[in-house]
Amino acid sequence: MSRAADLITFDEATSTEAFTSRFGKPDHDTARLLSAVVCHAHALIKEFRPTQEQWRKVLDFLTEVGHASDERRQEWVLFSDLVGASALVEEINSRRPSGATPNTIRGPFFRTDTPERTLGSSISLDGAGEPLLVEGRVEDLDGLPVTTAEIITWQANAEGYYENQQPDLQPEFNLRGLFRPDQDGKFHYRTIRPAGYGVPGDGPVGRLFAQAGYPLHRPAHLHFVVRAPGFETITTHIYDADDPRLGEDALFGVRPELVHSFEQTLIDGKPASRVSVRFVMVRARPGRGK
Ligand SMILES: [Fe+2]
Repeated sequence: MSRAADLITFDEATSTEAFTSRFGKPDHDTARLLSAVVCHAHALIKEFRPTQEQWRKVLDFLTEVGHASDERRQEWVLFSDLVGASALVEEINSRRPSGATPNTIRGPFFRTDTPERTLGSSISLDGAGEPLLVEGRVEDLDGLPVTTAEIITWQANAEGYYENQQPDLQPEFNLRGLFRPDQDGKFHYRTIRPAGYGVPGDGPVGRLFAQAGYPLHRPAHLHFVVRAPGFETITTHIYDADDPRLGEDALFGVRPELVHSFEQTLIDGKPASRVSVRFVMVRARPGRGK
């Protein structure tokens, strides 16, 4: 057989085959996914038929996203979040039985070193904002209390900023806390009502999406990680039902069962809000749960 017979002519009809014949069948997950991405990219180029200049602009954008990313700012994660890829991966990997609390993405403001606080204490260290009482229960699918649970919460302040975004303006660990429930699985703590906020709009991803009229807003919410030995870890949000921009969540995290009414109440005789939540945990299955 001549060498010429081994050649695959590279043209529109054969481009994908030409690539895969060289790439083979990788046994590495990331390489397999990359191979699929390339095949889809070939199909996309054939469909949209960009000019060289248009394609170079795409590459320039991807280059900018990479340059804007470092250990403190992850522009690629923002991109993944805004196009719904993060939410889709979460959805595929954490499908739960009906009645169980659904997972949502964790977002970039979680801290692993959140301090433990006693039940009933306040996580608002500067006291700035409208008081909010959070009450809840951690239980399994049968309604039995999960007393070994840890409930970690974090949230934005009344201006829509997390403590680690404003290290000079907010006390360390403001609006963060780790709680352990009582013997009935119940917990409660005080905080302030959070505001919604904008996702970073000053990088290449935010600028491109803003130009396209894409909403870069997150409605008001509380974040939670609830974990217990033998159960799948819940990473979720509780959304304020009164936020008029609930339907615009830039990160596709709002689900009806996570939207809660913040009711009016009194704390120490002063007007405040109160929200009641329930976290329903599912027993861990092999290879899942973390
Ligand atoms: Fe958040």
